[in-house]
Amino acid sequence: MWLFGKKRHPRLLKTQKVNYSDLFFILRLSRGDLTLKPIFIAASVELGNSTTKSILTATDLKSGKTYILDKAVRMTREALDTGDSFCHTITNVGLSEDSIAELVKETLQESAKSAGITIPDLHFVVRSTGVTASFSKIEEVEGVIKALAKGCLLAGVPPRKMISPMSVDNIAPELRKFSRMEKTYFDGAVAGNLPPAGESIVANEMEGELVTAGLKEAAKWVDDVDFRNPVLSLDFGTTLAGRISDDGLPYARVVGNFCGLAGAIPDAIVSQVVRQDYPSVLDLHLQSQKKRRVKKEKEVVSGYTEEILRFIRVEKVKNGARSRVGGVPVNAGAAEKSGVVLIGIDAGENLSELPKLAEIGAELVKEEGEQYLAPVIDELAGCEVERLVGVAKEEGLLLPNTKIGITGRAGITGKKPEIILEKLSKLLGREMEKEVIFADDALARGAAVLGKCMHQFGTPQNPIGGIQGQGCVFGKRVKKQKGRV
Ligand SMILES: Nc1ncnc2c1ncn2[C@@H]1O[C@H](COP(=O)(O)OP(=O)(O)OP(=O)(O)O)[C@@H](O)[C@H]1O
Ligand SMILES: [Mg+2]
Repeated sequence: MWLFGKKRHPRLLKTQKVNYSDLFFILRLSRGDLTLKPIFIAASVELGNSTTKSILTATDLKSGKTYILDKAVRMTREALDTGDSFCHTITNVGLSEDSIAELVKETLQESAKSAGITIPDLHFVVRSTGVTASFSKIEEVEGVIKALAKGCLLAGVPPRKMISPMSVDNIAPELRKFSRMEKTYFDGAVAGNLPPAGESIVANEMEGELVTAGLKEAAKWVDDVDFRNPVLSLDFGTTLAGRISDDGLPYARVVGNFCGLAGAIPDAIVSQVVRQDYPSVLDLHLQSQKKRRVKKEKEVVSGYTEEILRFIRVEKVKNGARSRVGGVPVNAGAAEKSGVVLIGIDAGENLSELPKLAEIGAELVKEEGEQYLAPVIDELAGCEVERLVGVAKEEGLLLPNTKIGITGRAGITGKKPEIILEKLSKLLGREMEKEVIFADDALARGAAVLGKCMHQFGTPQNPIGGIQGQGCVFGKRVKKQKGRV
């Protein structure tokens, strides 16, 4: 039974960095043996619309757990190139291949240095981007991924560490014995989810895949949540990514895909308040209200939130209706062919109402004060999640045990987790505390999981594939790959 107004305890995993030499020590002590540790080191290099990140992870191949070694975060606007740009962010920061490569190189090198490792120590690098807004076709995103590769090369990563290994000889000698590549191969399934067949559905598809896998890994660190299929994942970056899976075996199918805007909405709300080119919520030091809100404050927050919501569309994207949602290229026809429901958030029609949001934000600050920004932004994120999950429910995409995972600053900061739990409990008619997980940096954890899948490093005693309550699907995978299922 859910209770209205009850104090809730969100399952929230915050990133804690562990220095490489400390990690080595921790793993040794915990096992009480002195053998060489099978640690798989991966880098997730992400060019986001607001931030560019290099996050280094170390996965213990015996337990399957992923530790964050270090992360370097820069503002993507640092790579502004007005001369030679071939793409731009949601807020029109023009980027060129060289400006992206330079920022990526520096970010990657900075993270390695502070983690206490060298670039050659990396076993694998995964590149991803949310910068898709300037493209008219989904395939054009490949150009950004190439620019990211250039940056990694400049930092000293050889090309073979950026692609799936073809044979066991391509795996670092000390890790070879943990690979099951002799028995199974990488068939595209990541953490037990098979991507939709056919053409890409959204331009930031890889983000959806990585965050879903990463949230599955993150859930291993929090109590009581078996976040395996069926799941619904949401990445509230500047843009929105995420997926809904069913409970198929050995692999689940993707039945829903999220797209459009996330943090770009609060960015617009604060844009006339922040004194900065290409303004972001990150430029403000938002204070969440600690004291209980009195009646007048609640009314102000809900009044402004409702006003903003009048300009925000959260809906199923129908085939033939539109080729972009919130600036992000989508292919609703491909979604329909693959049996995937596309659900998007937009401000009007393809960003058209963002200026209106900026006006409302300025009015809020002028009339009520800056201290209202955080509560309104938090409430708004809660309403958006409620509506997204509501559409998924109406479309019949949720199973009775579908778990929900949320990552990205625009979805997990401030009071958002408590508000989201409250609204989801009400929407779904049950207490959701143990059915929702919130995590920092899920995408980077997902990059480590993708690397593991590509190398066929499994941990049968602690599986992240398969469905809730059941064991490892290795046997079923072997049968499927031999054509016996
Ligand atoms: N306290 C907050 N409340 C709401 N939104 C926030 C808050 N702090 C940051 N954000 C928003 O989160 C976004 C940045 O998050 P993140 O770094 O995950 O995005 P990104 O990776 O750059 O974007 P994408 O992956 O969509 O390209 C920005 O839009 C920023 O305004
Ligand atoms: Mg991102």
